[in-house]
Amino acid sequence: MKKFLIVGNGGRESVFAKCLMRDAAVYAIMSHENPTIIECVENTGGAYLIGNPNNPKEVLDFAKICTIDYVFVNSDQPLANGVVDVLLENNIKAIGGTKKATQIEWDKIYSISLMQKICPEYTPFYKVISNEEELKNGLEEFKSKSIEVVIKPQGLTGGKGVKVMPIHLKNYQECYEYGKELLDQKSDEKVLLVEKLKGIEFTIMGLTDGKNISLMPATYDYPYRLENDEGPGTGGMGCFTVGDKKLPFLTDEDWRSCEIIMQRVIDEMGASGIKFNGVLNGGFFKTENGIQFMEFNSRFGDPESLNVLTVLKTSFSELLISLYEGKLSNTEITYVNKASVVKYLVAKEYPFASPDVITFEIDTKAIEDEGLGVIFASCVKDSNNKYNTLKSSRVLALIALGENTDEASIKINKAIEKYFKGKLEYRKDIGSRESLEKLKV
Ligand code: GLY
Repeated sequence: MKKFLIVGNGGRESVFAKCLMRDAAVYAIMSHENPTIIECVENTGGAYLIGNPNNPKEVLDFAKICTIDYVFVNSDQPLANGVVDVLLENNIKAIGGTKKATQIEWDKIYSISLMQKICPEYTPFYKVISNEEELKNGLEEFKSKSIEVVIKPQGLTGGKGVKVMPIHLKNYQECYEYGKELLDQKSDEKVLLVEKLKGIEFTIMGLTDGKNISLMPATYDYPYRLENDEGPGTGGMGCFTVGDKKLPFLTDEDWRSCEIIMQRVIDEMGASGIKFNGVLNGGFFKTENGIQFMEFNSRFGDPESLNVLTVLKTSFSELLISLYEGKLSNTEITYVNKASVVKYLVAKEYPFASPDVITFEIDTKAIEDEGLGVIFASCVKDSNNKYNTLKSSRVLALIALGENTDEASIKINKAIEKYFKGKLEYRKDIGSRESLEKLKV
């Protein structure tokens, strides 16, 4: 059995562990004792280290001690810190983008400029801003065209730095003030002004070996904290796929547009000598005029990965090896033909930190016996088989498959009612029929 090392400890890494344990030995470096990952490690005779997954040297040392065959690096900070580069330099096989390849995620100006070069027809209006004068002139141009603005810092901000007009910034003056604040904060970073797109946001993740890319089922994520998309933005309260690769609001032409964009990105990176294997994650908008680009990530999304990897039939370990070896075109990738819904349970205060540890109980066996999945994220198990939250982030997720998203959504709501005890909250409406009916352009 090949030994795979997972870097990180969220719900996403838990689902990697669950998939890998089918036919590989699971190893992990984590910052807390994630109960799902630990179970997968123990069931497959692997090992784990509580350490810093963002530190290339710690990951390298643990990979060497455990004589790991493949390391899968997939979260933004380890990728941006060059964990893959350090592993490859030391002859350890690593799947995931190098620091250079993942610039597409950690540098928003690089990614939109790349899009403007290779896919101008799919790129919204934007301005790159280096100083106050450019900010003033740039905003004047948006105003004269009556285009609302999204302001993005150039670098990674954990989803907290992007502000949208008129939700977070009421008018052009507030945009100016926020833009200036960003310019003052980091003198070496630029600011991006982008057209606010009108339509439906969705994600398509593609598996790539640097030459070929295979698109996974498209996902629709619920970023807002409360039912009916109210409340603050979060990392994602839940997500669905529908069985078909396309979402109901996407046409064949839309799908083709996404394929063209993703393949052109991989071709352009290859032509520039950038080695990229792993996941290219495309954030798009379906607008009245077709598909528009929003952002790229160079990794699986969370919760999006929980959906797509639950419906993946192909061996995940074999798939990762094919990405590393550049043999994606020889690998048949198949999916269960069912809808999938994921819902995260979180503390009342989330996305803000909660003051207290919350203790909860869940009958994972009963839930799994009913055909659903339980994925732990920001919590640990205590000696009484209860679980304690870590006061921040999403705590655990439930996953269900169904003939449609409504059926899967109801299964999760019922399982939580029956088998979960504790003061955590979730969104009942994720994947519901009513919620899908609203998704019209
Ligand atoms: N769900 C958003 C992300 O993973 O970045």
